[in-house]
Amino acid sequence: MKTRVAILISGRGSNLQSLITAAAARQYPAEIALVLSNNPAAPGLARAEAAGIPTLAIDHRRHGRDRQSHEAELHAALQSHAIGLVCLAGYMRLLSPFFVAAWQGAMLNIHPSLLPAFPGLNTHERALAAGVALHGCTTHFVTETMDDGPIIGQAAVPVLASDTPETLAARVLAQEHKLYPATLAAVASATLPAPAPAAALSHLRRV
Ligand code: GAR
Repeated sequence: MKTRVAILISGRGSNLQSLITAAAARQYPAEIALVLSNNPAAPGLARAEAAGIPTLAIDHRRHGRDRQSHEAELHAALQSHAIGLVCLAGYMRLLSPFFVAAWQGAMLNIHPSLLPAFPGLNTHERALAAGVALHGCTTHFVTETMDDGPIIGQAAVPVLASDTPETLAARVLAQEHKLYPATLAAVASATLPAPAPAAALSHLRRV
């Protein structure tokens, strides 16, 4: 039986698309069963609809400053869809301890840097300003600290002298689109890294 996965998004949804595409394969161990957004205008919602995946927009602005009541609504939606794993994919809201505890060990995130370097926003600009030779992306289990938690996988790209934040972001994003499907496959099948094709997992390491 496939693990039922919910993807949480806030915007464009290109990582969501990479997960939808990977999950269409018959042997993929996870099924994208729900896409949730805190932003009703998120373009990513249309990608899910086009794939026939149920979507829900739960607008955080309806809850004012009450983060927990927004997350209680998210949590109820996840439960009513019998979700087993949650993937944050460009979900740009801090999560409160209540929600993180409820999904501990069952919630993943992708971040556009080689964590622990450059948590937070504007990672590509900051990597260029710091003069690093390597940049990349990280998948990890979610903890209460933003862009923190046990690392599942990383993919690195060289930083070129000619790079702008945009060219670097594009090269990192191409890696994100490989790393997240491989990570979800590994976690969903609960064995790192045996069940997925060896080539797809060559950049994963054990937690
Ligand atoms: C991705 O680059 C993702 O790594 C990043 O937001 C982008 C979402 O793009 N996430 C974070 O910065 C989380 N701290 P997408 O909507 O096209 O997947």
